[in-house]
Amino acid sequence: LWEDKPHGGFYTQDDIREIVAYAAERHITVVPEIDVPGHSQAAIAAYPELGNTDVVDTASLTVWDTWGVNENVLAPADGTLRFYEGVFEEVLDLFPSEFVHIGGDECPKEQWRRSPAAQARIGELGLAGEDGLQAWFVKHFDRWLTARGRRLIGWDEILEGGLAEGAAVSSWRGYAGGVAAARAGHDVVMCPEQQVYLDHRQDAGEDEPVPIGYVRTLEDVYRFEPVPPELTAGEAAHVLGTQANVWTEVMEDQARVDYQVFPRLAAFAEVAWSALPAPEERDFAGFERRMAAHYRRLDALGVAYRPPAGPLPWQRRPGVLGRPIDGPPPDK
Ligand code: ACM
Repeated sequence: LWEDKPHGGFYTQDDIREIVAYAAERHITVVPEIDVPGHSQAAIAAYPELGNTDVVDTASLTVWDTWGVNENVLAPADGTLRFYEGVFEEVLDLFPSEFVHIGGDECPKEQWRRSPAAQARIGELGLAGEDGLQAWFVKHFDRWLTARGRRLIGWDEILEGGLAEGAAVSSWRGYAGGVAAARAGHDVVMCPEQQVYLDHRQDAGEDEPVPIGYVRTLEDVYRFEPVPPELTAGEAAHVLGTQANVWTEVMEDQARVDYQVFPRLAAFAEVAWSALPAPEERDFAGFERRMAAHYRRLDALGVAYRPPAGPLPWQRRPGVLGRPIDGPPPDK
C-alpha cells in the first residue's frame, strides 16, 4: 500500500436503497456499474475461480491496493457468466434504472493470449481473437439485461470486437468512440477525459494539488461541447447527454473532492442543461460574474471549492502521487 493508510469500506444493501431513494426524490437516477471483464482483481481475490487459473495463481492474489490498469482479468468461462448473472440480479433488485453499466474498459488481453482455456474458448465460439472474447462478455450481458427490460451501457472499449446490439456507449477516451457509436446507431453519453474528467487538474500552477491528468480550467469546461459538430442531426440525436467523471483514487477526503469538482461542475451543469451558443461564443465572463454570487452559496453549504484566484494555503497540501498526504483536513 503506497500510503500505509488503512482503506476499504463497503455499502450495505440498505445503504444503497437509501441512496437510490434520496436521489429519486430529487429526480436523479443512480446508474450502477459492475466492471467486467477488467478491473476485477478484487473479485478474483475473493473468488479465485473467476480468474485465469491456468496462467495465474489466482488463489494468491489479494485485493489490489493501487490504481491503474490491471492485468488480472476475468476468465472467459461459463462459470464466470453465471457468477456475474447472480451479481447483476442483486444489482437489478436495488437499482431501478433503465441503464446498467457493465464497465468494459481497460481490459488487458495478455492473460487471454497465454491461457489455453481462453484460446480454446475463442476456437469453440469461432471468435475473432481476444477482442472477440471481450465482445462475447459484453454481448452476453446485453442480451441478459435486455431480457429483463434494462439496457446495457459500457465504456467505449466495448466497441472493440463488435458492439452489442442495443448497447449504449460512455465515450471517455475522447470523442471518437462516441462519434463511431452514434454513427452506428448506438446511444452515447459524452464524457471525454481530455475535457470533463474532474479528477484532472484545473490549473497548471505549482500549487495545484492532485496534479494528475490534463489541465482543464473552469473556462475550458464552460466551453466544452458534448455534441461534436461532425455529427449529422440524426446521429447527434443519439447523444443522450453528457457526464463529468470524478475518480477518487488521489482524493483523501471530502474537501479534496469538493476542490476538484467545484466550481467546474457548475460550468458543466450549465453546458448540459441549457442551450448555450457555440463554444467560442459563450459568455465566460458573464458566467464568472454569476459565479461570484454562487461562491457565497457554496461557502454557506461548506463546499471546499477551488477559489478563482487559486488554492488557499491549506488546499495546497501535497497531493503528489506516491507521497503521503499528512495532517487532518482543516475545519471548514
Ligand atoms: C475510465 O476512466 N477508465 C472509464
